[in-house]
Amino acid sequence: MSKLTLSAIKADVGSIGGHTCPSERMLEAARAQLAEEKKKGTITDFDVTFTGDDICLLMVHTHGSDSADVHNLAWGIFEAAADIAREEGLYGAGQDLLADAPSGNVRGAGPGVAEITFDTSAEERSAEPFLIFTADKCGPGAYNFPLWAVFTSPLYCGGLMLPKMKVGFTFTVIDMEHTGGDRVVELEAPERHVDLAVLLRDEGRFGIKSITSRLYPKQQVVSVSTDRLHTIAGEYKGKDDPVAIVRTQGVFPAPEEVVSPYVTAHFVAGDARGSHHMPIMPVAINTPVAGPYCLPVVACAAYSVTSAGKLSDRVDLFGNTAWDDTRLKAQRKGAELRQQGFVGPAMLPIQELEYGAFRTSLADIEKEFTVR
Ligand code: 13P
Ligand code: MG
Ligand code: MG
Repeated sequence: MSKLTLSAIKADVGSIGGHTCPSERMLEAARAQLAEEKKKGTITDFDVTFTGDDICLLMVHTHGSDSADVHNLAWGIFEAAADIAREEGLYGAGQDLLADAPSGNVRGAGPGVAEITFDTSAEERSAEPFLIFTADKCGPGAYNFPLWAVFTSPLYCGGLMLPKMKVGFTFTVIDMEHTGGDRVVELEAPERHVDLAVLLRDEGRFGIKSITSRLYPKQQVVSVSTDRLHTIAGEYKGKDDPVAIVRTQGVFPAPEEVVSPYVTAHFVAGDARGSHHMPIMPVAINTPVAGPYCLPVVACAAYSVTSAGKLSDRVDLFGNTAWDDTRLKAQRKGAELRQQGFVGPAMLPIQELEYGAFRTSLADIEKEFTVR
């Protein structure tokens, strides 16, 4: 059995003029380092993209998930890019590098990690197409709705009625508020799709961490980065801005099904100061964040990979004109909600506000209350 691993590791290590996007020099440094590692044979291939102010390193290799070599490599690249950001006077240089030097695993140290390892000789996977989703200005629960929709509901994914998908999928859901060890539950769909809804409605606490085929239990189809920066750091350190890998086709949903729920432009938590609700807008890969209240964005790149670990060119799914109408819809939905400013659902509940200083402002006023 020969194995291949897809590692998508994403971090915000500094951006131009606020929380917009990384600089070209930062991206070039990341590409140069990964090209070097490809020559050395550490990785078989790579791609470097950005979505808003986050850099995403996609690495293909044979070291398995949670490999110290690959995680250290990513950390080193982010540190070097953060140094460039400092030199250039960029905002939030090193923002997501919360540990001093993680020992061989960047999970829990700030960067978002999605990884899937698979058997390249499995008969049920004659080809390996996959998608990388990168979102900015939102929490790791941002993928809850679209993933639940695609993997449990024929309304969004007609392919679920096919014999090999009817059997369903096993969801691993993580309690993102829990610190010290991963607190997880495994629920099987379609039977438990309502129980999944009970958890996933709370996108601030519960997130889909992975999804696996029930017919081929060794085949993981989805991996999502689910660390919450404020849970790691104990205070606001920026948003979590998740990355997800979704393998597609054959015994899995097709890319056109996987992207279908994004037409909703669903409301997510995050946005300006990590403290509001706004709809998520599908955008082209390498798009800076420029919208009012940091309108959240999500990009989706499609790739194929050979069994030797060589990546195809990328296809920019959300960069296509097919998403123009959804972009307008997201902007309109955002503008509607923003008209009510800070009131009710326009802002997050007080416990969820990522800028803890909002709570300090409340505490100051609390002192003036009297009970009559
Ligand atoms: P990032 O987490 O993307 O850096 O966003 C921070 C923020 O609060 C923007 O308003
Ligand atoms: Mg930032
Ligand atoms: Mg970001």
